[in-house]
Amino acid sequence: MRIIVQQNAEIQNNNTINKDVRLPVYLYGHPVLRQKAEPVDLNEPGLKDLIDSMYTTMYESDGVGLAAPQIGKSLRLVVIDATPVGDRFPECDGRKMTLINPEIEILDGDKVCRAEGCLSLPGLSEDVKRVEHIRLSWTDADGNSHSEEISGFLARIVQHECDHLEGLVYVDHISPIRKQLIKNKLNNIAQGRILPDYPYRTAPKRRR
Ligand code: NI
Repeated sequence: MRIIVQQNAEIQNNNTINKDVRLPVYLYGHPVLRQKAEPVDLNEPGLKDLIDSMYTTMYESDGVGLAAPQIGKSLRLVVIDATPVGDRFPECDGRKMTLINPEIEILDGDKVCRAEGCLSLPGLSEDVKRVEHIRLSWTDADGNSHSEEISGFLARIVQHECDHLEGLVYVDHISPIRKQLIKNKLNNIAQGRILPDYPYRTAPKRRR
């Protein structure tokens, strides 16, 4: 999830998994963003390097959350560091979490509308209705299990990122009328006519 105004960043293309190197962010229209992601095996070699490189990618693109499908890995893995919005949303302050195989239980069905953005949808921000009180269960990078009640904007970030694991993006939650209004923007992203200032991968071109 992205909500901060971007700064100038060097564009570099690097497809290898390296903890010091940004990974390209897969953009809206790429089929990997529509797949249901597979559970993570904690013994998978290279998992910690993958997590490190996801943090690097998130920080370098001014995100507060990034899901593995967004870097082309269809895995149930999310990184979040909500610290940058901690002054606006105290529940976010200092919250850095690696979510492996996360599960969400909705604790209060009342929905709140707030603006969201996404690294996979550059240049777009839309109001999204979501619940703001959930129970989140997950495994961290050291293999420890956690279960915690989470609320407010942090609950929104978690839901946004966990949606990516189900093949959903936030514009799936907006009204059909609103979606019709931004149809051209969505098409432009899917066809590579709107590009971010961080490394990216566009959807494969359709064959004629
Ligand atoms: Ni997103």
